[in-house]
Amino acid sequence: MDCTEEMVKILFQHQHGFIVTKIMSTACELGVFDLLLESGGFLSSAEIAERLGTSHMGMKRLLEACVGLKFLRMEWKDNEGVYGNTDLANLCLAKSSPKSQCRYIRFCSEFLYPSSQYLTKAVREGKHQVPFLFDTSEKDIYTNFCSSEERLQLFQNAMGDAWSLYGQEVISAFDLSSFHIVCDLGGGSDAFAKQYVSLYPNSTVTIFDLPEVVDKAKKHSVPSEKYRINFQSGDFLNDPIPEADLYVLARVLHSWGDEKCLALLTKLYKACKPGCGVLIVETILNEDRSGPLPAHIYSILMLLVLEGKERTKSEYNTLLGAAGFKDIQFRKGQVYAAIYGRK
Ligand SMILES: C[S@@+](CC[C@H](N)C(=O)[O-])C[C@H]1O[C@@H](n2cnc3c(N)ncnc32)[C@H](O)[C@@H]1O
Repeated sequence: MDCTEEMVKILFQHQHGFIVTKIMSTACELGVFDLLLESGGFLSSAEIAERLGTSHMGMKRLLEACVGLKFLRMEWKDNEGVYGNTDLANLCLAKSSPKSQCRYIRFCSEFLYPSSQYLTKAVREGKHQVPFLFDTSEKDIYTNFCSSEERLQLFQNAMGDAWSLYGQEVISAFDLSSFHIVCDLGGGSDAFAKQYVSLYPNSTVTIFDLPEVVDKAKKHSVPSEKYRINFQSGDFLNDPIPEADLYVLARVLHSWGDEKCLALLTKLYKACKPGCGVLIVETILNEDRSGPLPAHIYSILMLLVLEGKERTKSEYNTLLGAAGFKDIQFRKGQVYAAIYGRK
């Protein structure tokens, strides 16, 4: 059997997927998309190289690759190629865009990319490789993130980027306007909470997270009176949790195995008054586990760095049902799904 054109395309593309991540992060880091957004039009490679202080030859190579990847557009002007941002770059790759994903791209490049060298070991052993990723004996990834201010900032910034892009979609998936007191467990930064209070201005959100995370998030947060966002520190598995009408768990359950998830959900169910709810935000695997790609990617990352996994709709139904929640509903978004249960 010969290799078809389609086979070759898939093979080559995936063999070199790692360098696509690096092309994107390098162009972000050097400020290519910011410069082109600010300039409001097209610039030559020589001008871009000069303004960003790089070699002309290296920059030209990078710009051409970015055109191929649809981050940039090229036009001809006076027999010279000039480059401008695509809509994707203006929206997601320029740092000044409100929906910029640059901080998550940096996290991919600086943490996930080097960490991925331990994937074979993780698959062989069936467990996360945190001590190797951080070169420590500490097994808990969050303790490792918290032990360095710079690392914690990198992680929190990266997590926050998702909600400028996907926040409104998951928060508006259900009418949550009857809930006024909301607790975002493992909320991290205030990125999700900000989106929440902008959609439900009559709500107050308390972000409950580990002490180091809360300290950092508070420092970078805008005044709480304006946005109706508070912070409380603690361990959601072992400490009492704040009273709320609605508990949010965004990208928290996928960090843990079923036993810990059930313990946490049961704790929430007990804390809930009748009518109160839980909103879970995660990627969801198809029932036959054939996709989608974001769920497969996150599931692999969970294997590498934590004890969790992505789950199917039935698996979330079972967990929420076992904890006592009823009327469980799902709404799939572009990447994340919103899962909603009531007491
Ligand atoms: C993957 S991040 C998700 C952050 C945020 N919910 C989001 O989606 O952007 C998981 C969060 O859970 C927090 N976390 C982990 N273990 C915790 C615990 N035992 N108690 C409270 N927060 C915890 C971490 O500090 C981190 O902020």
